[in-house]
Amino acid sequence: MGSDSDAFGVYVHWPFCLSKCPYCDFNSHVRHTAIDEERFARAFATEIAATAQRTGPRTVSTIFMGGGTPSLMQPATVGAILEAIGKHWSVAPDVEVTLEANPTSVEATRFAGYRAAGVNRVSLGVQALDDAALKELGRLHTAQEALDAVAIARQEFERTSFDLIYARPDQTPAAWRSELLRAIDEAAEHLSLYQLTIEQETPFFALHAAGKLVTPNDDQARALYDVTQEVTAAKGLPAYEISNHARLGAECRHNLVYWRYHEYAGIGPGAHGRLALGGARHATSTEKRPEAWLMRVEANGHGLVGDESLTRGEQADEYLLMGLRLAEGIDPERYAAFAGQPLDPARIAALGTEGMVEATPDGRLRVTRAGFPVLDAVVADLAA
Ligand SMILES: C[S@@+](CC[C@H](N)C(=O)[O-])C[C@H]1O[C@@H](n2cnc3c(N)ncnc32)[C@H](O)[C@@H]1O
Ligand code: SF4
Repeated sequence: MGSDSDAFGVYVHWPFCLSKCPYCDFNSHVRHTAIDEERFARAFATEIAATAQRTGPRTVSTIFMGGGTPSLMQPATVGAILEAIGKHWSVAPDVEVTLEANPTSVEATRFAGYRAAGVNRVSLGVQALDDAALKELGRLHTAQEALDAVAIARQEFERTSFDLIYARPDQTPAAWRSELLRAIDEAAEHLSLYQLTIEQETPFFALHAAGKLVTPNDDQARALYDVTQEVTAAKGLPAYEISNHARLGAECRHNLVYWRYHEYAGIGPGAHGRLALGGARHATSTEKRPEAWLMRVEANGHGLVGDESLTRGEQADEYLLMGLRLAEGIDPERYAAFAGQPLDPARIAALGTEGMVEATPDGRLRVTRAGFPVLDAVVADLAA
C-alpha cells in the first residue's frame, strides 16, 4: 500500500433495495412504485456540481457507489453520475470505481453495462454460502446464485470483492472454516468478512432481545475471529483492516481513503464527507430520506444538512478511530499534528505491556492481533 496523501474519494449513495434485510441499519429503503432514476441522476449531478464548487479543483482517485443496492440502478444512471464527476473534477487515469452489487442473476445481467459506463471494480454482498443461513438473513438469493454472480463479475471485472457475514447464530468454528475456504476458492483478490452486528431498530435487535436469535458469546466470536485470521493469512488474503482482506496491492483504495483519514465527498441521501475547506476539515452530511433529499437538492442545489468544522481534538480522535482499524496502524506524528500534542506515552506503554498495541519498525503504532477483538476499548483508552 503506497503513499496517497493527496487521495480524494467520492462516495455516492443509492438508497434503495428490493427488500430490507432484518440485520441491516444502512440508509436503505424499499419502494413499491418505480423510482425515477433520471430525476435522481439529475439531482446527483446537481449535488456533485455544488460540492465541486466548494472544494475547488481536485483529482478524484477513487469513486464508490454504495447503498442500499446500487446494482438496482440502470447502467445509464451510473454513467450519468460518473460523467458528472468527470465534468466537475479531474479524474485520475487510474481511478478506482467500485459499485456495490447484490448477487442475483438479474443484477449480473447489468455488469457489462456498468463496465461500459466506467465501473472497474465490483463488491458483491454474498453474505453466506449456506442456503439456510441466507434465508435466516432474509436474503433473496441462494448460495449458488451468489456464486454464479461472483463468476460473472470475475469475467467482467479485473477487480472484484465479496462480503460474508460470520458469527451467525449456531455457526461453529469448523463450519465457518470450511465456508471460508470455499469462499477463498471463489474469491479473486479481496474479501470483506464482517461479524454479525445486532443493530438497534432492526428486526434482529428485537428478536435478539427476546432471546429468539442467539448470537455467539464473546469467547465463541473470538474463536470465529481467530479462524478468520488464520485461514485468510494462510491463503494469501491477510487482514489489512479489521474486517477486510486482500492480496498485496489489491486493497480497496476507496476505503483506505476513509481509514487513512484523507479527503472525500459524500453525495446522495445520507452520505457523509470529510472535506478540507479553507484550511479547516469539515464533516458534511446530507438529508437521509431519499425523496426529501431529492426535493432539497432541487430547491437548494444540494442536500446538505450538516456541515461542521472539526476541532483539532475531533480530527485527532477520528484519525485514531479510523487508522487503528488498519494493520498498518497510525503515524504518531500525524496524530500529534492533529491533536497539538503527542499520544500519552504512559498509555501506549500500558497497552503495550498488555499486548494490545505495538510499534512498527518504521515508527508507526498499530493494534496487535490480540488487540483487534477489543479495538473499541483500545481506541477509547488511547483517545482519553
Ligand atoms: C450496505 S451493504 C451493501 C451491499 C448490498 N446491498 C448487499 O446487501 O448485497 C454492505 C455490507 O454490510 C454488511 N452488513 C450490513 N449489515 C450488517 C450487520 N448488521 N452485521 C454485519 N455486517 C453487515 C453486509 O455484508 C453487506 O454486504
Ligand atoms: S444488506 Fe444490502 S440489500 Fe440488505 S437491506 Fe442492507 S443494503 Fe439493502
